[in-house]
Amino acid sequence: MTTKPPTKSRFGDGPSTAERRGAPLPLVTQPMMPVDDSDRPDQTRVDNPLATLKPETASVLFGKNTIAMGQATATGKPQLAVAPHPSATPPEIGLTQHHLPDEEHDRRLTLMLDPDSERAASFRVLRHHLLEVGRPQCVVVSSARNGDGKTTTAINLALALAECGRAKVLLVETHLRRPQLASAFKLVPPWCFAEQLAAHRHQPMMPWSLVDIPSLWLHVAAINPRIEKTQLLDGPAFAIAMERLRLGGYDHIVIDAPPVLGSADVNLMADAADAVVLALRARVTTTRDLRRAIDQIGSAKVAGTVLVE
Ligand SMILES: Nc1ncnc2c1ncn2[C@@H]1O[C@H](COP(=O)(O)OP(=O)(O)OP(=O)(O)O)[C@@H](O)[C@H]1O
Ligand SMILES: [Mg+2]
Repeated sequence: MTTKPPTKSRFGDGPSTAERRGAPLPLVTQPMMPVDDSDRPDQTRVDNPLATLKPETASVLFGKNTIAMGQATATGKPQLAVAPHPSATPPEIGLTQHHLPDEEHDRRLTLMLDPDSERAASFRVLRHHLLEVGRPQCVVVSSARNGDGKTTTAINLALALAECGRAKVLLVETHLRRPQLASAFKLVPPWCFAEQLAAHRHQPMMPWSLVDIPSLWLHVAAINPRIEKTQLLDGPAFAIAMERLRLGGYDHIVIDAPPVLGSADVNLMADAADAVVLALRARVTTTRDLRRAIDQIGSAKVAGTVLVE
């Protein structure tokens, strides 16, 4: 990791939020693919939508017709969490600059490695649909189970939102048992995000320590991979953290979360967020698991699903 001393930043320079929001969206190149799985048995794997797509394509299935699943995405518009009081004091943020080393990059960084690909375009479509359903500031990316493509989706959604500096984006990691952002970006977090959560629970006005990756227009709050893997997420601490970081000048905070099933962690995160996006692994995720995950989160918060090959 290449680091420079922390610098204070509250986004004093650059275009205003209103100016950035006025920036044109890139051409949407990937059509939406509505799926009707109503005839499938519960254990059917979610793979049919890919029949008409290239294998390397991450198709984006979003909105009203995403997956016929009871109340799921009934309106296509997640209910936004209550925003913090606008007059609240913004948090102090210390940034450590990180420059990606000139070596083989993690293949999950699609927007960076292959920006003109169909797969990259699909993540831009995801951005487009997310902005359409109410421009949620805080988005949790989860999935039914481990290995479904949460980190891939969270990274590329964050990169798509931040592309060319069009929005200020913070990518936050909360999957304590399988942290991946440090290795994906080849960085060592100056202060593990899980430890920061604990510290800020008692002292919410303490400065935050984040990593700034200027080449990707992205700020990252990563977990140190050496953390004790049995730790549980501190729900109240996470809620306090989101309330503070929302005031940090970010247009979007994308959370690379743990899986939904088997714990209530994602429920706590969803309570503090505006929307949840669920990643589905093609030919692996079952409709039964997806339905259970949506039931557990509550369909009102689920903005849509992303099928990852
Ligand atoms: N460094 C890597 N480069 C490319 N592909 C990887 C890398 N690490 C994992 N993968 C692949 O990505 C898939 C997992 O994707 P991803 O990490 O996005 O899922 P996840 O849902 O975040 O997983 P987890 O539940 O472990 O956090 C695995 O199937 C694995 O084959
Ligand atoms: Mg992951």
